[in-house]
Amino acid sequence: MVLSMKEALGMEKELSCASDSPLLDTEMILSFVMRQKREYVRAHDEIRLSPMQESSFRNLFERRKLGEPVAYILGRCFFWDFELVVNSSVLIPRPETEQLVEFAIELARKNNRRTCIADLGTGSGVIAIALAKAVKDSVVHAVDISEDALAVARLNANNLNLKNIKFHKGSWCSGLPEKRFDLIVANPPYIKNGDDHLLKRELSYEPMNSLVSGDLGYSALNTIIDQSPNFLRKDAWLLLEHGYNQQEKILDRLKTKGYSSLSGHQDLSGVDRVVIARWQK
Ligand SMILES: C[S@@+](CC[C@H](N)C(=O)[O-])C[C@H]1O[C@@H](n2cnc3c(N)ncnc32)[C@H](O)[C@@H]1O
Repeated sequence: MVLSMKEALGMEKELSCASDSPLLDTEMILSFVMRQKREYVRAHDEIRLSPMQESSFRNLFERRKLGEPVAYILGRCFFWDFELVVNSSVLIPRPETEQLVEFAIELARKNNRRTCIADLGTGSGVIAIALAKAVKDSVVHAVDISEDALAVARLNANNLNLKNIKFHKGSWCSGLPEKRFDLIVANPPYIKNGDDHLLKRELSYEPMNSLVSGDLGYSALNTIIDQSPNFLRKDAWLLLEHGYNQQEKILDRLKTKGYSSLSGHQDLSGVDRVVIARWQK
């Protein structure tokens, strides 16, 4: 006989090796297959799956058991109050990126003209989209080197009906149009080649060029710091997300390169995560 939703949910134990949140993952996969909200699945767990639903559930559940992230399995994820399409061409947006976005919104709202923002390494478009939604009169230029990532970002912006984002293919600031920006934001790759974190099974599903940046993990961050002065207006801001142990070195480099009003910030878990710097020349 086919599975009931209760029996399907009971399979969560099989995920305990692959996931820190086995029940949540099982509920998400089941509600996706049943095309119902998680609350419905929980409240009506006596309902039986159809043979096709069971086969689809088992298939997706097996992928999760092998370590594939739920967001890739379902092809979507949430950030703040919006949903994004994701696939293996883009990094799955992380909750810690909310910190960078919040600072950027605060600075953009203080700006007394139409804010011109650059998002370097846009991936799924998450940062560009969050800013374009929150700062209505802004225009956001989103750059990525990967055409496949840009296709996902464009789709996400279209799905959310956002007209104030322009997408560009290119490498960091060289992908930007010849103009000056009020804010440049970036969450670039910052893990060093061969780092132990890369051995985590879930990371092996994400694109390497979203994660790794040179032998020390600083290549992309340094390039962005060095290129940005040619694209920032006087008194404009650069905001960078970075790895847990990189803040001191990044602040040093920003200082050496002539930025001012430097500050380092932690994410919601108390980990050093964001630097903010002003270009006043
Ligand atoms: C850490 S991911 C960040 C994605 C997204 N901004 C986020 O916060 O979820 C870094 C992104 O940088 C892009 N990237 C890597 N090298 C690049 C380069 N040289 N120029 C522009 N983008 C690059 C990758 O394709 C990837 O989408």
